[in-house]
Amino acid sequence: MIELRSDTLTQPTPGMRAAIANAVVGDEQKREDPTVLELERRGAELLGQEEAVFLPTATMANQIALAILGRPGTELIVEETAHIMVAELGGAARFSGLVTRGLAGTRGVLSVEQVLDTVQSGDGHHVPETTVLALENTHNTGGGRVWPYDELVALVETGRELGLALHLDGARLMNASVASGRPAADIGRHFDTVTLCLSKGLGCPLGALIAGSSDLMQRARREKHAFGGAMRQAGIVAAAGVYALEHHVQRLADDHRRARRLAEGLVAAGLQLELEHVETNFVQLDVGVLGISVPEALARLHRAGVGLSGTMRPGVLRAVTHLDLSDDDIDRAMETIPRALGVLAAA
Ligand SMILES: Cc1ncc(COP(=O)(O)O)c(C=O)c1O
Repeated sequence: MIELRSDTLTQPTPGMRAAIANAVVGDEQKREDPTVLELERRGAELLGQEEAVFLPTATMANQIALAILGRPGTELIVEETAHIMVAELGGAARFSGLVTRGLAGTRGVLSVEQVLDTVQSGDGHHVPETTVLALENTHNTGGGRVWPYDELVALVETGRELGLALHLDGARLMNASVASGRPAADIGRHFDTVTLCLSKGLGCPLGALIAGSSDLMQRARREKHAFGGAMRQAGIVAAAGVYALEHHVQRLADDHRRARRLAEGLVAAGLQLELEHVETNFVQLDVGVLGISVPEALARLHRAGVGLSGTMRPGVLRAVTHLDLSDDDIDRAMETIPRALGVLAAA
């Protein structure tokens, strides 16, 4: 099976497994695990923040961020297809008492005007005051879109002027950094809190970081405990994170190159997709125009030995490249996908 469903499906590499096997560990809850401490130190530096906290998942990182930035009964603004909005089971309401307002983005990107038009100061007794703005970079449902840096900074400045707390869901921030050639710290430093996921393109079996100021991270550690995320000999997994930051960041460029190559091959074979929107490791493929339903297309592809997944866009599938894929896999996928979908490759 050529596994293109998600970059979350990678297996730890032999080098990563060796790092895990040799990890020096201690009691993480007591902050006595040297490997976790090392990962947190590197993570903070990488993300342009004072401190970082190691967590099991990026969902927990996002939810902790909202818990420490928001206040119950106030409003969170987020793009309407962001992970925080559509894939965290209403955690903002459940855990932090936030009212979430989703704004329609352009492939995940919001404008300054939209935020200016939306933010409410609260009237004291009816209308919830807007307190938090959360952005996502790269944007998952936006097709792995990299936020244009100037637009991101302009929005952050607007948020600051409006007195909002700012969170970046940077689950795939390293993809944005590598694709744009801009250090992740340059992006992360603008925000109060930043999430980084270690188990997507970075290839760890699990793990995420939240980063921010020392004060905020002290609060994040308390929330981590309350969420049940404070662990014991967690260095066994943090070792994979340290390894990934050393070995798996620059190679993301290979994933991006392979996604582009796949996209170009599919277009050449007559399939419908927006090449200019392939910015990182995601390729979005329109099967609706072929008159094939998403479940039918996925079943045909599966039978042919290629795994893709659906997206929030009707009729659109997603292929995601990652470190378990080779150039040969991409060649085979370029051949197999059009055939399975009944599109003949160009003669
Ligand atoms: C943008 C984004 N944020 C957060 C998450 C949550 O990650 P996790 O599965 O580690 O909780 C995901 C997972 O796909 C994601 O795509």
